[in-house]
Amino acid sequence: MNILVTGGAGYVGTLLTEELLKNGHTVYVLDNFMYGYESLLHFVDHQNLHVIQKDIRNLEKKDLAGYDIIFHLAAISGAPACDENPFSAQAINTGATKRIVDHIKDSSQLLIYASTTSFYGKDNKDCDEDSPIRVLSAYGKTKYEAEQAVMTRRDSVALRFATLFGNSPRMRNDLMVNDFLYRAINEKTIVIFESFSRRTFMHIRDAVRAYLFTLNNRDRMIGEIYNVGDETLNLTKLDVAEKIKQYVDCEIILSKLSASDKRNFNVSFTKIKRLGFSTRHNIDDGIKEMMKLFSYYRRYCPYKVI
Ligand SMILES: NC(=O)c1ccc[n+]([C@@H]2O[C@H](COP(=O)([O-])OP(=O)(O)OC[C@H]3O[C@@H](n4cnc5c(N)ncnc54)[C@H](O)[C@@H]3O)[C@@H](O)[C@H]2O)c1
Repeated sequence: MNILVTGGAGYVGTLLTEELLKNGHTVYVLDNFMYGYESLLHFVDHQNLHVIQKDIRNLEKKDLAGYDIIFHLAAISGAPACDENPFSAQAINTGATKRIVDHIKDSSQLLIYASTTSFYGKDNKDCDEDSPIRVLSAYGKTKYEAEQAVMTRRDSVALRFATLFGNSPRMRNDLMVNDFLYRAINEKTIVIFESFSRRTFMHIRDAVRAYLFTLNNRDRMIGEIYNVGDETLNLTKLDVAEKIKQYVDCEIILSKLSASDKRNFNVSFTKIKRLGFSTRHNIDDGIKEMMKLFSYYRRYCPYKVI
């Protein structure tokens, strides 16, 4: 199949693109490369890979024609990045997504949207896909508005991913598990604000598996929103830190100050599990693989990689 991956040079997009190529698809990565080109270099010469440098804010109808599937990942990803660039976040996450939806409104191309569990927000329990949305950040707001626009089309699926962890060629050390582990290794301390706050996590390779699952089960999944993750990975910040402490000699410091990020929720994944999708990796898998990467950075890389 001919597949377009917007944001294909990102943390998730690079691993998704590689997997789609392995499965015999022809993949078009469309990205503005705001974090550089390096993430694609190891497979850029693949004969079925095509790279398009373009900003999704400038897409025209013809840019989206001819693809069987569009995986839409391009975004300003994460609350801190959106808070630093609120206008770009609105224009890219919401505005550009609405325009993509508008450009393909008369087509039957499948649009698979990278949504998030982040907008379940504060003090929300056992959230399923019909639970109330409690938006706490520009990231949550812009991603929710975009998801709603995507789901006005019949031929769309939205995957609300848990917060991811694990290695990728475009590394993101701002994600909670990655961040805590990086600090444990390099600073020997993990400082936690509101240690009781619960969130949900998932290994990045399980996110890619969920994308492939959606591709292979599209007739059953079309027109619906799915939480993607596993209840065993609904963890508090303290759970995450204590798990890391099992592997890295470090001190956990519980701050009495309140956290700026007030998210506190747990999620139900029953809907996608009923279709047969389940995760394969636990947090230990992610910690072990990232320990290798971070010890390499520490020894050889003078820069902090964000
Ligand atoms: N990583 C997570 O934990 C997580 C969890 C839930 C949902 N998501 C969603 O998954 C998607 C991918 O996230 P990620 O972690 O890979 O983030 P990322 O920042 O690594 O990737 C985003 C990619 O989009 C590109 N991009 C940004 N603005 C663009 C623009 N205007 N035009 C073209 N390309 C642009 C960037 O260059 C980057 O390659 C995002 O939509 C994010 O909201 C991520």
